[in-house]
Amino acid sequence: MKQRGISSFAGQRIWIIGASSGIGEACAKALIKAGAKVALSSRRIERLTALAAQQDTLVLPLDVTNQEQITNAYQTLLQCWGGLDLMLFVSGVYTPLRADNFDFEIAKKTIDANLLGPMRAVAVVLPEMLKRQSGHIAIVGSVAGYSGLPKALAYGPSKAAIINFCETLYYDLLPKGIGVHMISPGFVATEATAQNDFEMPALISAEEAATEILKGIQVGEFDIHFPKRFSGFLKFLRILPYPIYFWILRRFVKI
Ligand SMILES: NC(=O)c1ccc[n+]([C@@H]2O[C@H](COP(=O)([O-])OP(=O)(O)OC[C@H]3O[C@@H](n4cnc5c(N)ncnc54)[C@H](OP(=O)(O)O)[C@@H]3O)[C@@H](O)[C@H]2O)c1
Repeated sequence: MKQRGISSFAGQRIWIIGASSGIGEACAKALIKAGAKVALSSRRIERLTALAAQQDTLVLPLDVTNQEQITNAYQTLLQCWGGLDLMLFVSGVYTPLRADNFDFEIAKKTIDANLLGPMRAVAVVLPEMLKRQSGHIAIVGSVAGYSGLPKALAYGPSKAAIINFCETLYYDLLPKGIGVHMISPGFVATEATAQNDFEMPALISAEEAATEILKGIQVGEFDIHFPKRFSGFLKFLRILPYPIYFWILRRFVKI
């Protein structure tokens, strides 16, 4: 059994959480262009409003760490649209952390935003989708969730858990007619990566990332990862025995 995709985005009701910049903003622009009905969420309302000015679009500001705000935004969306076809959760935060500057408060905030955030949103949209036996849930994780990498002492675990969460959702929801899309980008040039002080291999633009994401959702792909030359290599690394994995990491990753 393979899950169905969304062959055309025209007229589809799509909620993008984390739409104010980077990958989420690029997805929003592409979906608006494709004729989708789009609802934009994140904290920076002025950026969402500027994006929405391009079309008749819902602006639903929220903080993903706040359950009540997510629930209220979804209720508004339902009142306006009567249903939801795709929840695209892009929001995420990244603070470089290594063992010598490990900070539990940063770790807690990272898990709250990157893992509990998507879980809150899924908990809110699932009952209606299950009732209708249709809809799609897409969550942006990261290739940093594949296996342990430097400077990702909180970010890595938050994204590793997203992989497990999506796998389990996919297992449960495939027979129910609900699509699940796990999105694992490599390096993408955005505000989040502008802070990186090292050369990012296989760096792509947010627009290229959006193209990959929307293409994957259209064909019903569960495991959407890109760019393949980088994500494919990391997938290979994670199946190696640990001594070889860590040897390669120490030999070639100079950060
Ligand atoms: N860029 C990369 O190389 C890369 C690689 C792999 C995975 N990713 C993942 O891709 C996703 C998007 O990242 P990006 O690079 O596009 O970063 P970005 O430009 O910094 O965008 C992050 C988005 O998340 C939103 N956000 C952050 N915290 C939030 C909160 N508490 N509540 C609501 N919204 C929140 C931000 O909006 P507000 O500030 O307006 O709230 C913004 O719209 C993230 O999940 C990231 O982990 C990125």
